[in-house]
Amino acid sequence: MSKIIPVSYESKPCYKIVLEQDFEQLMEYVKELGYRSSQKICIVTDSNLEALHLQELKSIFDSYFEKVISFSFSAGEESKNLDTVQKLYEELIIHHFDRQDILVAFGGGVVGDLTGFTAATYLRGIDFIQIPTSLLSQVDSSIGGKTGVDFSQYKNMVGAFYQPRLVYMNLSLLQTLPKEQFISGMGEILKHGLIKSKAYFEWMKSNYEAIMSLEPEAVEEMVYQSCLIKRNVVENDPKEKGERALLNFGHTLGHAIEKLSDFSLFHGQCVGIGMAAAAYLSKELGHISENEYMEILDVFKHFGLPVSVSGLLAQDILEVSKSDKKMVAGKIKFILLEAVGCAYINPNLTDGQLMSAIESVLK
Ligand code: GLY
Repeated sequence: MSKIIPVSYESKPCYKIVLEQDFEQLMEYVKELGYRSSQKICIVTDSNLEALHLQELKSIFDSYFEKVISFSFSAGEESKNLDTVQKLYEELIIHHFDRQDILVAFGGGVVGDLTGFTAATYLRGIDFIQIPTSLLSQVDSSIGGKTGVDFSQYKNMVGAFYQPRLVYMNLSLLQTLPKEQFISGMGEILKHGLIKSKAYFEWMKSNYEAIMSLEPEAVEEMVYQSCLIKRNVVENDPKEKGERALLNFGHTLGHAIEKLSDFSLFHGQCVGIGMAAAAYLSKELGHISENEYMEILDVFKHFGLPVSVSGLLAQDILEVSKSDKKMVAGKIKFILLEAVGCAYINPNLTDGQLMSAIESVLK
């Protein structure tokens, strides 16, 4: 059942994305990278993964590497900051990590982004391997080399583009992922269909039962198709000069909602609300029909994603969106649908248009 997706960076082969149902092949792929057993490993994880799976992963690395340490921080977005990075630097220094040594990100998006950023900056760059455990990190954040942390309430404000050496996912871990986190990942997956492939969006609709009951083959096919879409986009535009910005569909308003709700909603839920608002504007501009718009909302609801939010003010959402780093020369680069399965960047929306989109998702 295993699947491999090669990823190039600037037209050269760079790393593999490996989809497996267990960790049995992990060391084969790690050894393929030519590492010596004397190179040190630091597995970076969070408190949830530490309790559940760290020992298993550590013993796999222990079977080859002479020194394997771990660093764990408290699970959640609150830890995604420079304080945690500093603690990790300190740990690496105490254990004499040098340029040959390797970080392993074992967790969801917060762990992957923070570990990648530490790897990018410690000693001006050391290798890192992604072992994403949440659906969202498997289909999105582990691929494409975006690393970073939040800064003073600004999400992902400090970071670097830095590619992993390997992305290895054990899809069986999804069987025990909390339901809300699985649904959060569905936000990014449905996004991939909406921005790039109507056929994939339709496939998601027809395979709803199998996906939501976590049938391994359906989940593997879904993750595989999403990783292919993400891979193609980041290969074409690794540093987000153009096409990669399409992946921000639903994110400009989504990030603002995430911030204004104090991160009490999951990222994918906020993206779902942001996509609902962007779909509304796509309909208002005549790109998609009323029926297509209503169907998008129905599909989101069916997969458990919210399409509206209460307790927030439209003006606040607009202002926070304007402080997002996706602004260019004071303008929001807003992503809209040209059609279902095809997105484009619209940098010319007026505040009035944005307010109407925001109001469409306020309860
Ligand atoms: N998560 C969006 C990107 O990787 O560009």
